[in-house]
Amino acid sequence: MEYRRLGRSGLKVSILSLGSWVTFDTQVDDELAVKCIGAAGDAGCNFFDNAEAYAGGKSEEIMGRAFRELGWPRWSYVLTTKLFWGIHGDVPNMRNTLNRKYLMHAIDGSLERLGDDFVDVVYCHRCDPDTPMEEIVQTFTEIIEHKKAHYWGTSEWTADEVRSAIDIADRHGWHKPVTEQSQYNLLERRKVEKEFARITDDFGYGNTIWSPLASGLLTGKYADGIPEDSRGALEGYEWLQDRLSDQDVIERVERLRPISERLDCSMAQLSLAWATKHPMVSSVITGASKVEQVEQNFAALDVIPKLDDDVMGEIDEALGR
Ligand SMILES: NC(=O)c1ccc[n+]([C@@H]2O[C@H](COP(=O)([O-])OP(=O)(O)OC[C@H]3O[C@@H](n4cnc5c(N)ncnc54)[C@H](OP(=O)(O)O)[C@@H]3O)[C@@H](O)[C@H]2O)c1
Repeated sequence: MEYRRLGRSGLKVSILSLGSWVTFDTQVDDELAVKCIGAAGDAGCNFFDNAEAYAGGKSEEIMGRAFRELGWPRWSYVLTTKLFWGIHGDVPNMRNTLNRKYLMHAIDGSLERLGDDFVDVVYCHRCDPDTPMEEIVQTFTEIIEHKKAHYWGTSEWTADEVRSAIDIADRHGWHKPVTEQSQYNLLERRKVEKEFARITDDFGYGNTIWSPLASGLLTGKYADGIPEDSRGALEGYEWLQDRLSDQDVIERVERLRPISERLDCSMAQLSLAWATKHPMVSSVITGASKVEQVEQNFAALDVIPKLDDDVMGEIDEALGR
């Protein structure tokens, strides 16, 4: 396993990591969570991603219990959570916000569910245009100073919003955010490769990217329709179905199949290995509903050296870039 710095911070994170969106609680119970986290750890994974909103808080509870069951020393892994959406329903100040009242309440709730005293990184799950940037940056500074988190980051912020947070932190001597968490995969490249290119150069801003398989589409398993035991068939995720059955996108994805066959790897492994190649990506957050998927996905590490400039060019060509 390769470990990269989280942006310009000194924190080292494994280039492949594991998150719990959709899976924990809905598909992965306590016993399976221990197995999935254990399999990732066996492959050298030290970075585990969660969020207050995942399964209404149950995902944090499951992950917390899994770490206690595994008995790993707390210093051996990096644990993250994300705040913004809220879990108390449509209540003023407790939903879709980064105001100080919500953040102070939410971080304590997450720590209680995780059964931990701190998370290593706390992310803003989205930006909040209704709360002044000064209030957001100052509150995350206090969360860090109260030792409830070691670093803070952003998710799906614009480059301008990140630049504004960094400017304000600089002016006041407050803690700067160190990393973004953006969607990045073979079908969704613009934000990471274009919009964030400048702040990576200027500030060394990191990125721990999400949905590297576009919710499973890049595994090639949606080529003949939506399989019964897949994310696309889950109740509550019908909104994903149009994308997962879009014939144009499926045809593009299928053009990757001969490349993966020639490299003797699965399409999932090809896509995950590809995502690690971008130098501004600190970690590729994988998701899995089965332990076999974790094992296969982390074996993508062996595929990375096969992706030389020629193969990377071939992938671009296959996708029409
Ligand atoms: N910051 C944000 O806004 C945000 C948003 C989304 C996600 N995230 C983070 O990113 C993590 C990963 O996102 P994601 O789950 O969407 O990642 P993904 O890699 O795009 O999709 C993972 C899903 O694809 C399927 N899959 C994975 N490996 C496979 C394999 N080898 N063969 C066949 N199917 C496979 C599984 O679903 P099925 O088996 O059910 O089909 C799995 O749950 C999340 O857990 C979360 O931590 C963050």
